[in-house]
Amino acid sequence: METPILRIETPQSFHRSVAQASELLRAGEIVAVPTETVYGLAANALNSAAVRKIYEAKGRPAYNPIIVHVASLSMARQHVRAWPEIADILAAKFWPGPLTLVLPKSDSVPSVVTAGGETVGIRWPLHPFMQELIRECAFPIAAPSANLANQLSPTTGDHVFQSLGGRIPLIVDAGPSSIGLESTVLDLTSIPLRVLRPGMISAEQISDAIGLKVVAAGRESAILKSPGMLRKHYSPRARLIISAWASDAELEKIARGSGTPLSRIHILAHERIPHSNPYGRVAVIPHDPEAYARALYAELHRSDQLNAALILVEAPPPESHWDAIRDRLRRASGNG
Ligand code: TXA
Ligand code: MG
Repeated sequence: METPILRIETPQSFHRSVAQASELLRAGEIVAVPTETVYGLAANALNSAAVRKIYEAKGRPAYNPIIVHVASLSMARQHVRAWPEIADILAAKFWPGPLTLVLPKSDSVPSVVTAGGETVGIRWPLHPFMQELIRECAFPIAAPSANLANQLSPTTGDHVFQSLGGRIPLIVDAGPSSIGLESTVLDLTSIPLRVLRPGMISAEQISDAIGLKVVAAGRESAILKSPGMLRKHYSPRARLIISAWASDAELEKIARGSGTPLSRIHILAHERIPHSNPYGRVAVIPHDPEAYARALYAELHRSDQLNAALILVEAPPPESHWDAIRDRLRRASGNG
């Protein structure tokens, strides 16, 4: 299958992309689309056969449910059995944006979307393309990240092409994702409320908004509740080690101790930037959580493209603003 890439650069290409993508979605096809978090692989959420194509193209296990994207509150409410008051408060504060609410599903949502479960994850994305696409289609859009199962999420159209080129009929490319990490997934079906996947909207911000305690799920229960949280998700091909160093000499000692030739080691630093560079590559990521999140996956994708064997990542700070980043790095290192 040919996989054309439509780039959005002008109002004309924006509207042309919406028209072509919506035509494919209405015909029961799948399309890779930009969102503010990461690129998604979209299908009509109300069409079981279309959603099955997502699982097939990604090689996604059938037990992993898919988030449903909406473009209004009324569309969200239409596809859940109950809409608690806290959902209203959270939607008012964080939607459109990178927050997915897990609620009891209504009968309108096919079971293939929820992997047979009784709950559905719903999100109103901020990206103007997604909003226009959903309005144009007038149905909700099921979309996981647009990558082969267990690989890194894509934050550019090229990342999508590397992973799914030849397997899907269209990629809409709107440039790099503005947030760069997947949405926060919040379970509203049990008390206390639980973050199943941390994201750039933190448990603390959510808790402040609703005046209720919100717990970050223990890793084991998160895995049962949110199968996508299995270890070894969000991984580059290269081995990844999170480390800390006080000097160039210490970093070099860690690198040599790994047994990997230095030329195949990539360093990802944000604070202690090495002065000498005997490594395959040194990437510098800004020391700011938003900017770091935006850049992280692109750097990991780049290391894979350059055939790194080992990525040594400077440990991010312990503060809560960095929770989602630490979570993804831990998973990428295989210590989910
Ligand atoms: O930012 C995002 O969330 C992106 C964009 C495309 O919206 N989507 C995304 O989807 O990251 P995906 O499928 O790669 O990750 C969704 C996560 C998975 O861990 C899945 O198990 C979990 O959300 N999830 C989805 N529906 C759920 C449900 N009903 N209950 C619990 N977890 C759910
Ligand atoms: Mg994913």
